[in-house]
Amino acid sequence: MNLYIIKSLYSIIYKSAARPELSKKDLKEISRVSSSNNAKEGISGMLLYVEGEFLQLLEGEKEKVLTTFSRISIDGRHTDINIICESHQKQRQFEEWNIGFYSLTGKEFQDKTGFKSIKSYFEADKYQDEIMLVFLLKQYAELANKQT
Ligand SMILES: Cc1cc2nc3c(=O)[nH]c(=O)nc-3n(C[C@H](O)[C@H](O)[C@H](O)COP(=O)(O)O)c2cc1C
Repeated sequence: MNLYIIKSLYSIIYKSAARPELSKKDLKEISRVSSSNNAKEGISGMLLYVEGEFLQLLEGEKEKVLTTFSRISIDGRHTDINIICESHQKQRQFEEWNIGFYSLTGKEFQDKTGFKSIKSYFEADKYQDEIMLVFLLKQYAELANKQT
């Protein structure tokens, strides 16, 4: 019975601000290293980049998710890291992606969500709902593989 709790799936969603000097090449490198590390750790998830801001979901075994997140949280390539939700899950939502990565402009994000930035999206409290967030990230995960 306890085994179920120890091995149960855990997920974290956080947002952060990218260092202004971050280039496309840097983003590609983050995505490459994340994909390789997450595959080894059995972690899946999605990283969204909207004009200087990140929104990331990580899911997997609790200990591995927490270890990965603590590494991410001391990474100097972003600041203002805020956990939006963390919880146990019954099943993976992003099974196919060790890390889906999708980058879009504020304008594109606004056309989709009505908000011009991740920050303003979260200022509207009702959108912090986990189900809504997973739904949003999934739509970009579907597109992630098609983006070069
Ligand atoms: C926004 C952002 C998201 C990241 N996501 C991940 C991730 O999902 N998995 C991961 O292992 N590293 C991620 N990283 C990179 C880590 O902070 C760290 O640089 C990396 O895990 C170190 O891996 P290495 O020891 O193999 O070089 C992310 C970094 C940033 C800035």
